[in-house]
Amino acid sequence: MSDTTPFEPMSNGEVYQPSSAFIAKANVPDWESKTIQAEQDLQGFWSERALELEWYQPWNKVLDDSNKPFYKWFTGGKVNIVHNCLDRYVKTWRRNKLALIWEGEPGDQRSFSYHALNREVCKFASVIKAMGITKGDRVTIYLPRIPEIIIAMLACAKIGAIHSVVYGGFSVESLHGRILDSHSKIAITADGGWMNGKIVKLKDMMDEALRRSPSVEHVIVIKRTGQDVMMEPERDLWYHDLMSLPIASPKCETEVMDAEDPLYILYTSGTTGKPKAVLHTHGGYMVGIYATLKDVFDLKDEDRWWCTADPGWVTGHSYLVYGPLLNGATSFLYEGAPTFPYPNRWWLMIEKYALTILYTAPTAVRGLMRFGEAWPNRHDLSSLRLLGSVGEPINPEAWKWYHRVIGKGNCPIMDTWWQTETGMFIITPTPVMALKPGSATRPYLGVAAEIVDADGQVVPDGEEGFLVLSKPWPAMIRTIYGDPDRYVNQYWSTYPDKYMTGDSARRDKDGYFWIIGRVDDVIKVSGYRLGSAEIESALVSHPAVAEAAAIGLPHEVKGNSIHTYVILRTGFDPSDSLKDEIRNHIGHEIGPIAKPESITFVDNLPKTRSGKIMRRLLKARAQGLPDGDITTLED
Ligand code: WT7
Repeated sequence: MSDTTPFEPMSNGEVYQPSSAFIAKANVPDWESKTIQAEQDLQGFWSERALELEWYQPWNKVLDDSNKPFYKWFTGGKVNIVHNCLDRYVKTWRRNKLALIWEGEPGDQRSFSYHALNREVCKFASVIKAMGITKGDRVTIYLPRIPEIIIAMLACAKIGAIHSVVYGGFSVESLHGRILDSHSKIAITADGGWMNGKIVKLKDMMDEALRRSPSVEHVIVIKRTGQDVMMEPERDLWYHDLMSLPIASPKCETEVMDAEDPLYILYTSGTTGKPKAVLHTHGGYMVGIYATLKDVFDLKDEDRWWCTADPGWVTGHSYLVYGPLLNGATSFLYEGAPTFPYPNRWWLMIEKYALTILYTAPTAVRGLMRFGEAWPNRHDLSSLRLLGSVGEPINPEAWKWYHRVIGKGNCPIMDTWWQTETGMFIITPTPVMALKPGSATRPYLGVAAEIVDADGQVVPDGEEGFLVLSKPWPAMIRTIYGDPDRYVNQYWSTYPDKYMTGDSARRDKDGYFWIIGRVDDVIKVSGYRLGSAEIESALVSHPAVAEAAAIGLPHEVKGNSIHTYVILRTGFDPSDSLKDEIRNHIGHEIGPIAKPESITFVDNLPKTRSGKIMRRLLKARAQGLPDGDITTLED
């Protein structure tokens, strides 16, 4: 261990030790003792962390587990997450600190101090309030990566409305389904967003989705790309018009919320059926993401934090929008793609804005790695001090490239394992921990992670099993919006009182966790979460398709890619043009991210006697692996 090189590989090359210099300055240098403390007194630990934030009224109970698995945190407490993100900061010197630096794909730039961001949020909150939105109403947000997506989310939360952000990469049917399920009163979108030099026509897709969504009374449209769009009289309103009216008052009270009041819903793919709405709250969620970001990424006032995720996914909600603001940090947001116009775009941003922490996905690292070292080497990346990874396992090769070429050997990599449902980091290193490339290391403070077999028995170290969480944590999912039974069945019915993650993993002799992947029919494509069932239902909605199966197979850059098997209806003949048509159909139904890598026309599909498609068998055969147990296979 040396003081000059903050992060040095150990002799065996597979364990990377933190430097004493890093430890000396870390937010939490004594991780081991903190771990023991949190384990012995879970509620004491979380109550201490909650007290680092401001509450309108203190809670009576840290954890209420009287109605498992509907756990409640900080009951009786009154709070609003936006109070802790903005209100408390604009009363201090921090009003002058940059909250957000933004660059658009065409190169336009905007930045917001805490004061300026708060002002925009207050004005927009006043606008939607004047339009009749009140506490508990749902608002769908469908925007590109522009500052207004953050402003819109915060404005909703400020007045107690529940936001439902739909990722701008999803298209018509996905958007439609989410608007319908959430009964949103208003929708917020833009004329378009820039991506790879092209305009993603969000407003057009919104119009199509709204044809069958009666709940939406108004659409607020942000002018971003400037091309003509249809504005339906009475229904559609320009954001800039609304923001210049007297109703856009910069004075807007923050709604006093119960700790357990919903903050947002976010749709995510599951094992079966349609995507489900994961519900998070103002109190516990706020405490969880505030503490994890502060501890794990060692956030300091002088940092410039860049989480490359889209705000439309949970990573964006927790660690792009809320987490950094709760910590009073400066964030960077970039609109476009990493490779447009050249694959140096991200490295240029780091240099240009002197960003200090980069948090991204393995698929992005692998994708950029393909272009070679010359691109990053042309830029001064010396501002970086920490790196992060999320969304899927990072292979040691990509880890080492990221560490050496981007981090110049000086930046620890925080490989954070978590889920939409967990809300916050669950298994994660910290910069004071020894790292092993490819391992998400150890459970966060107070987290009880176990690897169990089918009977719920903990398996010996080194053996693969199901990853479960046996103690609650404050940022956990509270329910599936509108479907509490599904919440219980999906996560809590396999083992009593244990949260089922859907992942398999191993734990090594040092207590380090190695995530293997999903054990259900969820496919992670470039870190995006999609369901086999969802893709199959999109396939069979095409007139030529009678039956279909979708599976994920390993892919060098994307982690997994989607492969599909299709039985055609009589009267349709297999052809390449039909394949293209079906691929585009999926693009329309779900979004470009769900377009399959391959479509194979088949005469039949392997099914169990009860009629379920045996995706496992398709997967094994596609990879040339043994069939495994096929006793349930229909003849
Ligand atoms: C699934 C959850 C959590 C934010 C983004 C994904 C996989 C996530 C890691 C990691 C290995 C990971 C798991 C998990 N996953 N992070 N560091 N190492 N796998 O959220 O879309 O809800 O997906 O992503 O399979 O279950 P999500």
